[in-house]
Amino acid sequence: MTNKIRYFIANWKMYGDLSSLKSIQKVIKFSRLNSTKKFRIIYCPPYTLLGDFSRVVKKTSLETGAQNIHANFDFGANTGFVNSKMIKNLGVKYVILGHSENRALGEDNKHINNKILSAIKSKLTVILCIGETITQKKNKKTKTILKKQIEVCLKGINKKKRVIIAYEPVWSIGTGIIPTNIELKKNLQFIKSIVSKKIKNYKILYGGSVNPNNIKKLNEIDLLDGFLIGGASQSSKKLIDIITKTFK
Ligand code: PGA
Repeated sequence: MTNKIRYFIANWKMYGDLSSLKSIQKVIKFSRLNSTKKFRIIYCPPYTLLGDFSRVVKKTSLETGAQNIHANFDFGANTGFVNSKMIKNLGVKYVILGHSENRALGEDNKHINNKILSAIKSKLTVILCIGETITQKKNKKTKTILKKQIEVCLKGINKKKRVIIAYEPVWSIGTGIIPTNIELKKNLQFIKSIVSKKIKNYKILYGGSVNPNNIKKLNEIDLLDGFLIGGASQSSKKLIDIITKTFK
């Protein structure tokens, strides 16, 4: 990665409790000591911690994001869910949408598109996850799947809106396996060619088993603006290590 702003999005999934508020202090300190470097750290903890995290990072350079929202923009009878307005109200700036763990529960591209429209209406920046499963990859369907995910999910979005695309091959998430740089580059180039027809102002990240041991290799890819990090991001030490290594 060259001189551009690097994004590090920490997706905590269904992990974390009140003691986590203390553990992120190390990362806050790290960001303060490295304020001349161009990076953004965005914590996406579970809903239960989102308000607390947002308060803790308020006077720092760190930001927060939600892991999902309900598709309805309006308040309503939707037991167990939260909408984009509720997230925005907490001082949150981002939301992850289309994560494969939610797609696996039945969220399709059309539904994700509705969520994206609601998020944008609330002025949240969308982090849209796309990626193929291992079966789709084996059947040489990767490009078809990625194209469909991008086109349907980004339907009706104003060209000028800022969106972050996270390419996360499903077979890479939580497995320790990452694509080769050749494969990754080819898929990123393809994604960019489709996304750039829909929106102008976007960033592109890679996600899937990013850790301190593979970050150097992944960082060789100039096309990337940063990383969406799951498991490793819950350890402040590992997260700091990942960030530090991308600047070496
Ligand atoms: P992982 O998760 O880094 O644990 O593979 C990434 C993600 O699901 O966003």
